[in-house]
Amino acid sequence: EEIDCAGLHVLPGLIDPHVHLRDPGDPAVETIETGTRAAILGGITAVFDMPNTTPSITSQAALEHKRAYVQGRAWCDIGFYVGGAKSNIADLAALELQPDVCAIKIFAGSSTGDLLVDDDASLERVMRSGRRRICYHSEDEQRLQERKPIFAAGGPHRLHAEWRDVECAFLGTRRLMALARETGRGAHILHVSTAEELEYLRDFRDVATVEVLVNHLSQTDEAYERLGGYAVMNPPIRDARHMAAAWAAVADGTVDCIGSDHAPHSRAAKERPWPATAAGLTGVQTMLPVMLDHVNAGRLTLTRLVDLMAAGPARVYNAIAKGRLCAGYDADFTIVDMKRQRTIEESWIASPCGWTPFAGMACTGWPAMTIIRGQVAMREDEVLGAPAGRPVRFDTGLSQG
Ligand code: DOR
Ligand code: ZN
Ligand code: ZN
Repeated sequence: EEIDCAGLHVLPGLIDPHVHLRDPGDPAVETIETGTRAAILGGITAVFDMPNTTPSITSQAALEHKRAYVQGRAWCDIGFYVGGAKSNIADLAALELQPDVCAIKIFAGSSTGDLLVDDDASLERVMRSGRRRICYHSEDEQRLQERKPIFAAGGPHRLHAEWRDVECAFLGTRRLMALARETGRGAHILHVSTAEELEYLRDFRDVATVEVLVNHLSQTDEAYERLGGYAVMNPPIRDARHMAAAWAAVADGTVDCIGSDHAPHSRAAKERPWPATAAGLTGVQTMLPVMLDHVNAGRLTLTRLVDLMAAGPARVYNAIAKGRLCAGYDADFTIVDMKRQRTIEESWIASPCGWTPFAGMACTGWPAMTIIRGQVAMREDEVLGAPAGRPVRFDTGLSQG
């Protein structure tokens, strides 16, 4: 089959290292099938799926079930996070040695699901229970909890005003960095969203890698006025000062990868009044158009985008044969049309929840084709073939300081 790429750019297959596909959980919101379909429509060739499903992926049995379940259901390749919880610390060393596990994920604050490692002793035990790079949900949510009574009166649009004077203590990240230095175990800090934490992490490049989210590069607190609950996520969308810091960190090399933190919820859950509003936004399908628009606006180069969305995640997670266009690597390609202008519409969204916080955004730059291991999975909005996604393989033998 011939593929005409005249006028298009061929990129290595792009990876979204941070999605919550909710399966098992709530099929009315998202499934493996719909979430990976959304991924290929958006030009993503592999996703790493978070463990806070119902039930959560915290045991060998749950992992094995998911491994079998994705066969014939996933449209793109997929890596599995295993959740660290206080109850399974003794099992983590064995769980992280399995080649389709991208990382152990720890939530330091309460979030969707029941995974929580929020005390120093448990954090230390987790850090001493394996050697691969640990993934850490960076957010001092203690602070958020303290603030909730204040938000209650004003609804989500008041969130930003209150956040402005929250001191960014990120105590969990500080403890983790001390433990990382002590144990020699690396840590990947997910969705870093404040100027202060980015500044802090610059001094820990020996042990820390950094993710920022599309949303924190694209939206500021004006979104609360416009979107209400559809702008609520953890960590929250912040003001322009933090967005500028995130872009500076992209430019100076502090950031290793960009994630979407695709986290679907029902409309009902998003429309519940604050503070009951569910936190989390869809994003796997819109991530690339939004980032290509940033490229066209001159905020980063296409080369840096490839770095952050292909080579970066492959390197941080030690994915095998992913993230580069070269001999011996999987034939994963994301083909983009840098000139195509198109507005993001909710009717395009493949996730059953059916909404996006980027609806109405006019993007210049759009995915044209998604090719996974040599097979065309998506061409011009058309999903082709069958769900043939496979588990991503990771090099689990590396000590990842
Ligand atoms: O906004 C968020 N949504 N932050 C998280 O940490 C979890 C996620 C979810 O699963 O809904
Ligand atoms: Zn998180
Ligand atoms: Zn997340």
